[in-house]
Amino acid sequence: MSNNINFKELATKYGTPYYVYDFDHITNQYNELKNAFRARKSLISYAVKSNSNLSVIKHLGNLGSGADCVSIGEVKRALMAGIPKYQIIFSGVGKTDDELREAISLDILMINLESEAEFGRVELIAIELNKVARISIRVNPNVDPKTHPYISTGLHENKFGVDLDTAKRMYIKAKKSEFIDPVGIHCHIGSQLTELSPIKEAVNIVANLVRNLKSALDIELKFFDVGGGLGIVYKDEILIDTYEYAQTVLEAIFGLDITIICEPGRFIVGNSGTFVTKVLYEKINGKKRFIIVDGAMNDLIRPSLYNAYHKIEVLEKSENVSDCNVVGPVCESGDFFGKNIQLPLTEHNDLIAIYSAGAYGFTMSSNYNTRGRVVEIALENGNDRVIRKRETFEDLIALEKEYLQ
Ligand code: LLP
Repeated sequence: MSNNINFKELATKYGTPYYVYDFDHITNQYNELKNAFRARKSLISYAVKSNSNLSVIKHLGNLGSGADCVSIGEVKRALMAGIPKYQIIFSGVGKTDDELREAISLDILMINLESEAEFGRVELIAIELNKVARISIRVNPNVDPKTHPYISTGLHENKFGVDLDTAKRMYIKAKKSEFIDPVGIHCHIGSQLTELSPIKEAVNIVANLVRNLKSALDIELKFFDVGGGLGIVYKDEILIDTYEYAQTVLEAIFGLDITIICEPGRFIVGNSGTFVTKVLYEKINGKKRFIIVDGAMNDLIRPSLYNAYHKIEVLEKSENVSDCNVVGPVCESGDFFGKNIQLPLTEHNDLIAIYSAGAYGFTMSSNYNTRGRVVEIALENGNDRVIRKRETFEDLIALEKEYLQ
């Protein structure tokens, strides 16, 4: 993992803040999951939203990965990075007509439907294009995934997917339609999952529906998409064993001739990434110690948004440890990376590493406070290279400048 990375050298070469991703770790994670499913036909369909850098997608594509996309932009990224169209899935609760039109024209593996209303739009657009749309249906199994409420998706109170009866109705309609080909079924109950039992419950519910569709309606699906969600270690989490995870899925689909699809994001890239930032100042307000760094919530929003824990280390220092908050320069009290943590006394220009930042780090970053997004670096076989350059002020105003009156 990231332990052998020379963060200081990278800081000298590329400046701070930066994201660095260990591509060899990404390879290992991909292979671990792919191997766990080796007993059956499977497709790992990387969740592009977790880290959509073209070079990251390309690296995974070279390993054989497909792509799980949630906008036509992500679909285009996947294609540009060389993912074959027959390994691309397009999901999401609110796809626009234009997105659907493009996805059907591009002839990707399947469009994952999340409502009956969407079924209607897809059918109309397919008729208009005179093409058959391959679809899957996202089932909401009403299972509590036992994760943070913001990243929980498998309960009826969440906006995702359709209930079992609606799914069945949609498959019947699909079977009757000349323009819709129902090839798959999908469920994804949440992210950063650390318990297997909710996954087991969900995949069994979905597998029973597959059996039911086959026996009662003669609808035979080709793809069983179990979503993503496998958790990673941020602090001291006990993880789901990938082998047991795969076994659970394999047991659920026992007797069915169906290809497994799995859509991991965080599991693949989360621990590959480190966000590195530089100390600007230390200060004490009353009794509270703050380390103010050059990175901020616009670069990595997970602590601010979910109160998420990311391990933080001051590099090359271990003396004079005391309680502090690590904060950025943005004008919000919510702009922090860590609160009430023990860190050594720092000086101007010391480097701070914020770990497990490879997933939902850069992709959720913004230009808030007119801060350019940071440089992204890949590390592969001991060699570093830029995979996205640092944004400049000119980049930030490029789309506004011509309108200035
Ligand atoms: N498939 C579907 C349908 C999804 O909605 C997601 C994530 C994934 C796969 C990939 O999930 P993963 O394997 O990465 O857990 N921004 C949040 C996470 C949001 C997850 C959204 N959906 C965070 O920073 O924790």
